Parts: sequence; structure tokens; C-alpha cells
Amino acid sequence: MAIASILITGAASGLGAACARSFAAADARLVLVDRNEIQLAALAAELGSSRVMTVAGDVTESSLAETAVKAALDNFGQLDVLVNSAGIDPLDARGVLETSDVQWRLVMDVNVTGAFFFSRAAVAAMKANGGGSIVNIASVSALKPSPEETVYSVSKAALLQLTKCIALDYARDNIRANCVCPGMLEEIMGDRRAQMSDRDAAARSDAASSAIPLGREGRYDEIARIVGFLADPDQSGYMTGASLVADGGYLLA
Ligand SMILES: NC(=O)c1ccc[n+]([C@@H]2O[C@H](COP(=O)([O-])OP(=O)(O)OC[C@H]3O[C@@H](n4cnc5c(N)ncnc54)[C@H](O)[C@@H]3O)[C@@H](O)[C@H]2O)c1
Repeated sequence: MAIASILITGAASGLGAACARSFAAADARLVLVDRNEIQLAALAAELGSSRVMTVAGDVTESSLAETAVKAALDNFGQLDVLVNSAGIDPLDARGVLETSDVQWRLVMDVNVTGAFFFSRAAVAAMKANGGGSIVNIASVSALKPSPEETVYSVSKAALLQLTKCIALDYARDNIRANCVCPGMLEEIMGDRRAQMSDRDAAARSDAASSAIPLGREGRYDEIARIVGFLADPDQSGYMTGASLVADGGYLLA
């Protein structure tokens, strides 16, 4: 793979961490961003190399995006790939009646505005070095609303449209932007899981298994391989503005 330098948001856990492991195994240089400083440091220690940098902070701060992209440029000379994986899905922000002003703004801020800030900083750097690839982690909720996940579904639909806007506007700069739309994955998202009892979490897993035609949740490493495919111009160089669904057939059922 001809990728030198990769920035991943939400890298401390779940899918972002799986992407970091998979890119590190392919010998890429990484800038890992997350608000969870402790888990971020643990992952960097695990990957254990001078090729990994961490930038701790909140993706809703535009200055964090500038700092992280600068870290890639200063240390690795260029930025080839941005993966926007940071996201939240609070359990108690359900339908419109149960979604507070604060929850609406927070979810839109993290899931959409954060990805916008990082994309803006990355596009500027990628233009300067002749191109690049942005991979946004959306969700099947971007395509079909999930029940009682209004703001999350709206945020992921917006992320999908942001991806297409970038793809259209910067294609001539050799910058590609694509989305992955995963269905239910092996772990419930961290902020959501923190609001659930063990029994509810287990029930979600059982319900997922029966609702998904392939009969199981997706693994993070399976999605990370799709991210790797979209990141790599040798494999997906003619794809831009696309969204790849990986949901075990969930949307068919
Ligand atoms: N887990 C699933 O079932 C599932 C399904 C479809 C899509 N997704 C999407 O995949 C992506 C990753 O989800 P995951 O399962 O790895 O969840 P996760 O909770 O394990 O990982 C999300 C990471 O984002 C970080 N983060 C959250 N808010 C942040 C902020 N403001 N600033 C910096 N970092 C922040 C968290 O600290 C965490 O490390 C998300 O965008 C999610 O919407 C997940």
C-alpha cells in the first residue's frame, strides 16, 4: 500500500483502534486522535513505535483538527488519509420529544461538525501534497432511520452528504471521499453502553443476531479492512462519493 501518513479520529477504542492496528500492521505512520487520553496512550504503547503520534482532545474544537494535521505534516511530511471515526449515540436522546437542546447540539457537534473540522484541515494539506483519501464512518442509520435514535440518524445522514460534497468539490485535486455504513457491530458504542445495564446490552446482542440475516454482529476488524480498501488509491482509486454498506444484510430484512 502506497500510503505514508494516516490520521484517525476516535482512535482510542472500537473501530478507530481496529483501523489503527490494521494500518500499523501495514507499516503506515499514524496520528491518533481521541478525547480519551488514557486509552489513546495505551494504544500507542501497544503499537509501540516512533511511527505513531497521539493528539488528545475534543474533535468539536477546530483547533484540535489544525493541531493534528500539523502533527502529521511536521512529523511525516504529508497527510494521505483521514479516517473520521469519532462518534457518539446517547441512549437517552430518543425521539424528538426526548432529545434535549444540549443532546441535539452535542451529537451534531461530534458526529458532523468534528468530521467537518478534520476534513477541512485535511483537504488543505492533501491539496498541497497532490491528493489523498477521506473515509468517514457513517452508519446504516444514515440510509434508514433507526428507531428512537433521531439525532444520531440525522447526524449520520449529514455525514454522508458532507462526504459527497467533499468528493464533488475536490475530485480535481485528486482527493477522494467515501463513507462506510456499518450495521450493528460487536461492541455497542462506548457512550451508549455506559447508559445501559448489562442485561439490556446482552438483549441488544440477542436482538441483533436475530434481526441480521447473517445472524451476527459485525467485527471491527472486518470494517477496518473496508476502511483500508477505501483509503488505498491502488485498490479504490476510481471510487469517490460512495458509501459502502457492511451490515450483514440488515437493511434487506
Ligand atoms: N458500534 C456500532 O455498532 C456502530 C455501528 C455503526 C456505526 N458505528 C460508528 O462507528 C464509529 C466508531 O464507533 P465505535 O463502535 O468504535 O464506538 P466507540 O465508542 O468505541 O469509539 C468512539 C471513539 O470516539 C471517541 N470520541 C467520542 N467523542 C469524541 C470527541 N468529542 N472528541 C474526541 N473523541 C471522541 C471516544 O472516546 C471513542 O474512543 C462511530 O462513528 C459510530 O457512529 C458504530
